[in-house]
Order: sequence, then structure tokens, then C-alpha cells
Amino acid sequence: MNPSRSCLVMGNWKMHGNLADNAVLLAGLVAGAQRAGHAQLAVCVPFPYLVQAQQALSGSAISWGAQDVSVHAHGAYTGEVSAAMLADFGVSWVLCGHSERRALHAETSSVVAAKAAAALSVGLTPVVCVGETLSDRDADNADCVIADQLEPVLALGADALAKMVIAYEPVWAIGTGRTASPEQAQAIHSLIRAALVQHGSGATPILYGGSVKPANASALFAQADIDGALVGGASLVAEDFLNIAASAA
Ligand code: 13P
Repeated sequence: MNPSRSCLVMGNWKMHGNLADNAVLLAGLVAGAQRAGHAQLAVCVPFPYLVQAQQALSGSAISWGAQDVSVHAHGAYTGEVSAAMLADFGVSWVLCGHSERRALHAETSSVVAAKAAAALSVGLTPVVCVGETLSDRDADNADCVIADQLEPVLALGADALAKMVIAYEPVWAIGTGRTASPEQAQAIHSLIRAALVQHGSGATPILYGGSVKPANASALFAQADIDGALVGGASLVAEDFLNIAASAA
């Protein structure tokens, strides 16, 4: 981590949780938030629990976000949730183009960029996720895949890029227990940084995600272009999530 940038540790609960378990988890995070030191904490929760997150986290140092957003502002789009609706619940962040949405819901990189633009239009911060599959990596194609995924997002321009976050999540490291080595992660982060610099926004935070745990977080955070983490499984356990954040100190 470059000391001039702050560290963001964001949980992605995915489709986990219920009112009772969430209450325990959120209370644990609020109670232990000071352990995060100078790391900024955030959780991205399923839509139905946004109000619960808002109630539990308002007034704390922890912010909350959603895991997806519609490209549309309003209209006949059954099942979709607009960025303005998210803003009604005090949301700060929106994940855009998580690999599970790209793979399971056929989201293309241009749709992902449109979602980022929709979030920005109401003042939310998009967290644009990119990452290669194992076959891309084995074919030595990771750099090209990341560049292709970034292209429509970079085209949004420097002002937009300055108001977003990029998350590099290699698909082969998500939920597998197999994290990218700090050097593998840094290599892709530095490519992303170079692209951002070229498009006038070198300070855009770049998070790493994929089996981040308390045991590997500090080695990842020690890399020059890793500005924090997007945490799946370990964000469901307050102690683990807070220990990851504490590793940024
Ligand atoms: P895991 O931390 O469970 O590997 O998930 C990573 C992820 O997909 C976060 O968005």
C-alpha cells in the first residue's frame, strides 16, 4: 500500500445472512471497529438487509453498500433496483460486475460500465470488479482479459474514475482458499494502476479480492498498488473481518 493512500476493507456478504445472524455480525463490527486502525470498513449486503445495515451502522465509522444496481433509472424493469433507491437507504458503495454476476447473469463489461455510471449519477461510489478465470491465466491471457474488462470503464473518463474503486478479483481465487500470491496480485494491480494513470486518475483505489484471510492480508497490503481488500467468506465472521482490517496498520 502506498502510504499516501488510505486502506479500504470491504465485505461482500454475497447471498448470505438472515436478520438474526446479521444483527450479531453488525453489532460485532460496530463494537470492534476501532481495531481497524486507519483502515476504512464497509459491508455490501443483500438488498433486503440494507435497512438493517443502515440502522445498525448509522453513526458508526462503518459504511454500507449494495452488491448490484440497475443500469436504468426507473421504469418497467421487474426485479431491478435503481441507484436512486439504494441512495434512499444511505448506501455509499455499489459492487458492479462481480465475477459471479458476469458469469451467472451474463453481464458484459459495457453493462458493468453502465452500472458504474448509474451509481455515479446519484453520488454512489461504484466498486468495479475485474478478474480473469483460471483458463485465462493458464493461457497467459490475464493481462488482456483485465484490459478488455476495464476498457469501457476507462472510457467513462477521468472525473468518473476519480470517484470509483476498482477491485481485482481473480476468479480462480474466489471462494477456493487459493489466494493469488502478493506478487501475482501486485503484477495485475500495477497494470490497472498504469491504465488509470494513463486515463488521468492514478489515485483511484484498487482492492484485491479472492480468499483474503487474516493470515494473508498483511502480505497483500504490503504491495505498492494494493489499497485494500474485497472480502467474501471472511467478512461473515466479525473477528476475521476486523483482523484483516487490523493487518493494514
Ligand atoms: P472470498 O473472500 O470468499 O474468496 O470471496 C471473494 C469475493 O468474491 C469478494 O467479492
